[in-house]
Amino acid sequence: MRKLCALAVLASLAAAPAFAQTPPSPLKSKEVFIRDLMQRMTLDEKIGQLRLISIGPEMTKPQIREEIAAGRIGATFNSVRRDENRPMQDAALRSRLKIPMFFAYDVIHGHRTIFPISLGLAASWDMDAIGLSAKVAAQEASADSLDMTFGPMVDVSRDPRWGRTSEGFGEDTYLTSRIAKVMVEGFQGKDPAAPDRVMASVKHFALYGAVEGGRDYNIVDMSPTRMYQDYLPPYRAALDAGAGGVMVALNSINGVPATSNRWLMQDLLRKDWGFKGVTISDHGAILELVKHGVAADSREAAKLAIKAGIDMSMNDKVYGDQLPLLLKAGEIDQRDIDNAVREVLGAKYDMGLFADPYRRIGKAADDPADVNAESRLHRDAARDVARRTLVLLKNEHRTLPLKKQGTIALVGPLADAPIDMMGSWSGAGVPEQSITVLKGLQDAVGDQAKIVYAKGANITEDPREISFLNHIIFDRKEIDIDPRPASEMIAEALKAAAGADVIVAAVGESRGMSHESASRTHIDIPAPQQALIDALKATGKPLVLVLMNGRPLTIERQLNQADAMLETWFAGTEGGHAIADVLFGDYNPSGKLAVTFPRSVGQIPVYYSHLSIGRPWSPGDQPNYHSQYFDEQPGPLLPFGYGLSYTDFKLSDVSLSSATLNKGGSLDASVTVSNVGARDGETVVQLYLRDVAASMARPIKELKNFQKVMLKAGESRTLHFSIGEDDLKFYNSQLQYAAEPGQFLVQIGLDSDDVKQQSFVLK
Ligand code: BGC
Repeated sequence: MRKLCALAVLASLAAAPAFAQTPPSPLKSKEVFIRDLMQRMTLDEKIGQLRLISIGPEMTKPQIREEIAAGRIGATFNSVRRDENRPMQDAALRSRLKIPMFFAYDVIHGHRTIFPISLGLAASWDMDAIGLSAKVAAQEASADSLDMTFGPMVDVSRDPRWGRTSEGFGEDTYLTSRIAKVMVEGFQGKDPAAPDRVMASVKHFALYGAVEGGRDYNIVDMSPTRMYQDYLPPYRAALDAGAGGVMVALNSINGVPATSNRWLMQDLLRKDWGFKGVTISDHGAILELVKHGVAADSREAAKLAIKAGIDMSMNDKVYGDQLPLLLKAGEIDQRDIDNAVREVLGAKYDMGLFADPYRRIGKAADDPADVNAESRLHRDAARDVARRTLVLLKNEHRTLPLKKQGTIALVGPLADAPIDMMGSWSGAGVPEQSITVLKGLQDAVGDQAKIVYAKGANITEDPREISFLNHIIFDRKEIDIDPRPASEMIAEALKAAAGADVIVAAVGESRGMSHESASRTHIDIPAPQQALIDALKATGKPLVLVLMNGRPLTIERQLNQADAMLETWFAGTEGGHAIADVLFGDYNPSGKLAVTFPRSVGQIPVYYSHLSIGRPWSPGDQPNYHSQYFDEQPGPLLPFGYGLSYTDFKLSDVSLSSATLNKGGSLDASVTVSNVGARDGETVVQLYLRDVAASMARPIKELKNFQKVMLKAGESRTLHFSIGEDDLKFYNSQLQYAAEPGQFLVQIGLDSDDVKQQSFVLK
């Protein structure tokens, strides 16, 4: 793949504008080109390439340009405009060797147009939709002069207390790996040098999603088999798809910080996986090695990081300050620095920047007059993707879809919340351009029905939470607290409800509650919102809860209270329209949870693929001497893979083409899925496998394949899944990856809990 990229760059060079003073001829192969360039670089110029700075208040723009022209900065992030990045590229081309800069940014779920948060994208189980979201993001980001995204974020997470759960694709290894691939392909296209694509830098390598207790930045302590089996594959999938960069995790792994972890960065990443791209530290992570207690001072921190293979240092001067001293003292070799520089230059080469440093910056005459112009947004794509991510959790008495008639009371602190609709890490998105639930409903009904709105409650009244949320890194106040007493706000909501045929309440978290550093011990709907729901429930009117949140919440009580419940995550720029499409039945919901919803925090971790144990609890068992909590109903509230539709689907029994599978062969598992309801609709048919008896305990089920299918009302279709030896392989206690002979169960269902089963034997 990498070779192909280089060839493509070379092919494109014939047409590229000539850069009179570009040092060695770019017509040489990547390797020769970079070797020639490096031979001409001074030590300072080399170390300058390793510095990645954030554009912020630390340095003025003229200072930054001066540093760049002096060859002391290799790349920047956080500036997202052509007219801001162009002067920096001009400065780079004034430097002695004219090595171009690259410009990076956290393009996580959209750039100017914001798509649903990653946890929502995963709930679509729709690889085309997810790939489209990344492609559109890349097009918008590259049109804003960006060359690289710090994404995709593929940290598997099974502890919803962790705020960054919102940023990943859920709890499952297989689903996250499939998504990692399509995200990278969406960002990079066939070639990261393409002017309308950006290089992907997968993060956070590795295991960041497993921070102990879900507390951000905490340690990760994990067995090697779990690491290899469950947590590492998504990063590998992103790299196999060609991701050009890797961002290193902030956490330690079994006591050794990722940033100084030679096993992780050298043995695994470079030697075993053969990664040839650039590695980037997370923000300030090299200096944090001192706080981790593995480096005595910044000098030792720099030494550990460069020796581990951290090529670029994010937002500090530690390499610049320390590497020359370390080299002089003989504590590091020139080779350590050269290895890092080679990868940075290699990434720039792969992004096409030596061929044309202005590849994505373009000409000043073509700069957009207004970067936030409506014409630059991709609203249709955002709306279509967003509605595929919504998950119908309950629909009693066919409360949904709503009719576009009569009066609808719309209440709740998230009903008219443009900032929250964007979710965290919403790139260069502008909240004012997002469609709230209120606007979405109003647009949908026009003058056919009346929408009466009341806020009803604040997101939270807890002073500690308010202070945290409004202190977060965003440059604006995150939540607006209505100063009225709670009782007055509820009274207003009840007044709106009094004249209505149905109540829709938008409740949940503000986006800042599911963000970096936003870990929670209580993952419930905050008290003032619960009081509002109780009051609404007491009216006896049909109650539809629209949830907005970035992690599973403990919603057992609300699920009981609601007649219908729709999980909408943070649905992005077109969120309100997408939600209205589903509420009114203009789109039949098809999303399925990519993460288990626990009943209570005390159950965490609760995920569907846990290992077999000696005393499992099964429905019907006495609780005593079975693995469960005696004060809580066993099992999750909502299982992985769960989601309803406005139609009903039925699955036939599973048939296997053979009761045995020979090593190297394959067999066919088939199932007929029927739409037995009255509406056309889509569902996700999920295939799980279980290794009944192996050399070590194996998961009670593991997702290995799925198909999302659209069926007309009354239509049936037989789906075929091929199962081969590779699907049965796992890492044993010696970390050998192999399938072991014996019995396997094939389980196919419309969620992970309710499955049909057959078995076969691997010979
Ligand atoms: C986050 C990264 C992010 C970086 C740059 C860090 O705090 O952990 O995910 O890419 O900031 O914004």
